Amino acid sequence: MKKPIIAPSLLSADFYCLEKEIKRVETSGATWLHFDVMDGHFVPNLTFGAPVLAKLSPHTDLTMDVHLMIEEPLRYAADFVKAGADFITFHQECFPIISELKQAIQVLHQLGVQVGVSIKPNTPVDVLSSVLPLLDMVLIMSVEPGFGGQAFQMNALDKIRQLVQWRQADQSSFLIQVDGGINATTAAACREAGADVLVAGSYLFGHDDFNQRVGWLQG
Ligand code: DX5
Ligand code: ZN
Repeated sequence: MKKPIIAPSLLSADFYCLEKEIKRVETSGATWLHFDVMDGHFVPNLTFGAPVLAKLSPHTDLTMDVHLMIEEPLRYAADFVKAGADFITFHQECFPIISELKQAIQVLHQLGVQVGVSIKPNTPVDVLSSVLPLLDMVLIMSVEPGFGGQAFQMNALDKIRQLVQWRQADQSSFLIQVDGGINATTAAACREAGADVLVAGSYLFGHDDFNQRVGWLQG
């Protein structure tokens, strides 16, 4: 089984020493940095925006994986692309009408970035079935978006398995990413189900054995 990509979530990092935290990610075997953007409307929390990414991205070769938990992803997407985003993932719940969802994906692709769509734990994976061939990644939230340190919700596993089946059936190539409550145990279940990218915040940051923990997530 292929080793999953590990994307540490900056939200759980020590913001007093970001340079040290990013260097720790770089030497850990993780190759992505997950950037949780929250607007205080789509989710009841407020984090950081494109100006912070613009200051960080020139100093690292990590893949910048931007997770937009905001009501108006298209309004800010160009700022994040300019700031160095490699992937931009927005929430399907912002575009319940399928034609608008397809249009949003197209707009982001025209900005020259890889595009992901995310669904919350209570959103059925079926809402994505007709846009999968258009996507570079699907992000399955295994916690209610808004905060790190929550418990993994097991219904994410069935969604991963369903996506693997659909991907095989229509020869798509999107990555399957899981985000929320990922630790050694839940990572094993996600790998088993077929996840390609694992996001982890509180399981990694704040622990001296960061590298070892990345290894445990990779299995
Ligand atoms: C939650 C974010 C997650 C979160 C992960 O809204 O999208 O990326 O930071 O943190 P942990 O791994 O602690 O659940
Ligand atoms: Zn996230």
